[in-house]
Amino acid sequence: MLIISTSDKGGTGRTVTTCNVAFRRALSGDHVCYLDFDFGSPTAGSIFAIERISHGTLKGGLHSYLKGDVEQAERINVWSESAARALGLRPSGVGRLVLLPGDLGGGEFSITDEVVDRCSRLLQSLTSEFDTVFMDLSAGRSHAAELLLRVTSPTEKNGISARWLVFHRWTRQHVAAAAGLTFDERGLLDTGERVGHDRTELLESIRFVRTAVIDPGSNATSGLSAEQENWLHKVNDELNDRAVYLELGGQSVLARIPLDPVLQWREQILTDEDVYRRIANESTVEAFTELAASLDDEATWSRV
Ligand SMILES: Nc1ncnc2c1ncn2[C@@H]1O[C@H](COP(=O)(O)OP(=O)(O)OP(=O)(O)O)[C@@H](O)[C@H]1O
Ligand SMILES: [Mg+2]
Repeated sequence: MLIISTSDKGGTGRTVTTCNVAFRRALSGDHVCYLDFDFGSPTAGSIFAIERISHGTLKGGLHSYLKGDVEQAERINVWSESAARALGLRPSGVGRLVLLPGDLGGGEFSITDEVVDRCSRLLQSLTSEFDTVFMDLSAGRSHAAELLLRVTSPTEKNGISARWLVFHRWTRQHVAAAAGLTFDERGLLDTGERVGHDRTELLESIRFVRTAVIDPGSNATSGLSAEQENWLHKVNDELNDRAVYLELGGQSVLARIPLDPVLQWREQILTDEDVYRRIANESTVEAFTELAASLDDEATWSRV
């Protein structure tokens, strides 16, 4: 299974959420591979607490591979290289968790047929080696998104299909931006159709993930005044109406990740120990675990 994370705006929580969901899937026994395709800012290494690649690798990462400078992109075993104590204590029964970092200072690059071919071969091999392959793309209408739409197009006849997660924060501008990335000119559906996707089928493979969400009725708002809480309810209702109007509501929402105090201050993997020590909220880890489980839940994906 190939899962592609994207967003229109930056700072949506796309990378932190995708890393945490990859971690949760590996904990559940899946062999997981994470590809950092955020060509402008490949920072997944810092979230997995691997300092030497916190902004990408110097040893021939995914950029170098796609450009043909190396035959194999560097692979990193997250369990053994992470400085995070809870990751170092790899529990028994968990799956592999392998990171393919981007290159330090890599930047965006244009897509040639050769790049499409290299990407296609890489994904064919990784999707047969691993149970779940995650890809984190740059924000916006990126070259990476266009590349992946080409590689997963049925016209390529390589057998690679993907499920797309479009991330956005729970604000007016973020909701509008996520809708724009999906439905507007040069958006995912438009570009996808241009490179051979069936629009309806591609839409079926896209779900939205809301991040850093405050639930107005939850404990998270317990310190607020009655006026503030009423205001939150009103704005939340308006946002829901807006999301439904823009086709980002109902069953197209795959997950709502709560605003978490730890992630508010630090980009990291949340461990069960963080919850046990009452540093991180249990509801956040539950949301990551549920999102991880829903990725291959056919009932969830056979709607619209
Ligand atoms: N559920 C959450 N609650 C609170 N803060 C969060 C949550 N998820 C992510 N964040 C924080 O939001 C910030 C942006 O997150 P992240 O870097 O994952 O976003 P991104 O969409 O990948 O950004 P970029 O476009 O820069 O790559 C980070 O500081 C992160 O820790
Ligand atoms: Mg990111």
